[in-house]
Amino acid sequence: MIFSLTMNPSLDRFLYVDELKSDDTIRVKKVNDYPAGKGIDVSRVIEELGGETAAISILGGEAGEQILYMLQDEGVITIPVWIKTETRTNVMIETKSEQFRMSLPTYEIKGEDIEMIKEIVEKFVKKDTSIVISGSLPNGLKSSFYSNIISDLKKDHIKVYFDADGEKLREGLKSKPHCIKPNLHEFERLIDKKLLSKTQIIDEGIKARKNFDLGILLISLGSEGALAFSEDGVYECKPLEIEVDSSVGSGDSFLAAFVYYKEQLNLSTEESLRAANAAGAATAMTPGTELLHKKDFLALYKKSIVEKVNL
Ligand SMILES: Nc1ncnc2c1ncn2[C@@H]1O[C@H](COP(=O)(O)OP(=O)(O)OP(=O)(O)O)[C@@H](O)[C@H]1O
Ligand SMILES: [Mg+2]
Repeated sequence: MIFSLTMNPSLDRFLYVDELKSDDTIRVKKVNDYPAGKGIDVSRVIEELGGETAAISILGGEAGEQILYMLQDEGVITIPVWIKTETRTNVMIETKSEQFRMSLPTYEIKGEDIEMIKEIVEKFVKKDTSIVISGSLPNGLKSSFYSNIISDLKKDHIKVYFDADGEKLREGLKSKPHCIKPNLHEFERLIDKKLLSKTQIIDEGIKARKNFDLGILLISLGSEGALAFSEDGVYECKPLEIEVDSSVGSGDSFLAAFVYYKEQLNLSTEESLRAANAAGAATAMTPGTELLHKKDFLALYKKSIVEKVNL
């Protein structure tokens, strides 16, 4: 079983209108709701690919219930951590030519909620399994939450895959997760350096894996593919040619497929990277926040090339 942890989920509501006019009633033609959150994305992708996963997520109020029903409907096992405050709803308005994204304030989290999260994680995440921890944190929760929970999980020999940005990433790294997956911008922020060439990224990637004592470092490069730094060398995922729609969620899909192939199917790093590359690209083919379709993934997987870099 691969677990995921989402501390700051949201219900993404898309409203489709012809145009936005002031002082007039605007008719909404269609409303689509999606469960959102980076850990939730990871579990949804693993489920779509046929793996066994459970999404642990903070949820609250009606939006929280709706997320739970939607995940259940997709067959994603969800372990909710119910809190009294309503899960935020983000509203996206799409006109014929524009998109407006409204991100609503995130809730405050209380001390007792934090204890409950830790307890649930401890009870459900079994020894010798893997967990993907990703995304932002709700208000009131310090970045050190990530270093604390990672260090607790590691005591039970749980492999932690970690995807966060800025201060949260830096804090989490203090407890030495097994793997992180920054994109290039996140990696540059982490090492506080602008990287101008692939050679430079490779040099800094090798250094960072050592300095942060990581099992594996994955750096995703969007349409340029990805680089992976592991014990047995550096690998390059060659970019796949696709018709791009929206790459939102591509990084989550990349990580999801990697963990599934590596930890559940027990395949090699190279093979797992081929799957990860295909999953990221397949998600970039779908609109908005929609994630991959298995048939696109399978078609791209056949074409996905990973090469070992000669150092
Ligand atoms: N336009 C694209 N063409 C081909 N592959 C892509 C494209 N965009 C993304 N990918 C694949 O998906 C992977 C992850 O993408 P990206 O680097 O954009 O992640 P990200 O910025 O972390 O995304 P997010 O945080 O929204 O999930 C890339 O390494 C690549 O394999
Ligand atoms: Mg990302």
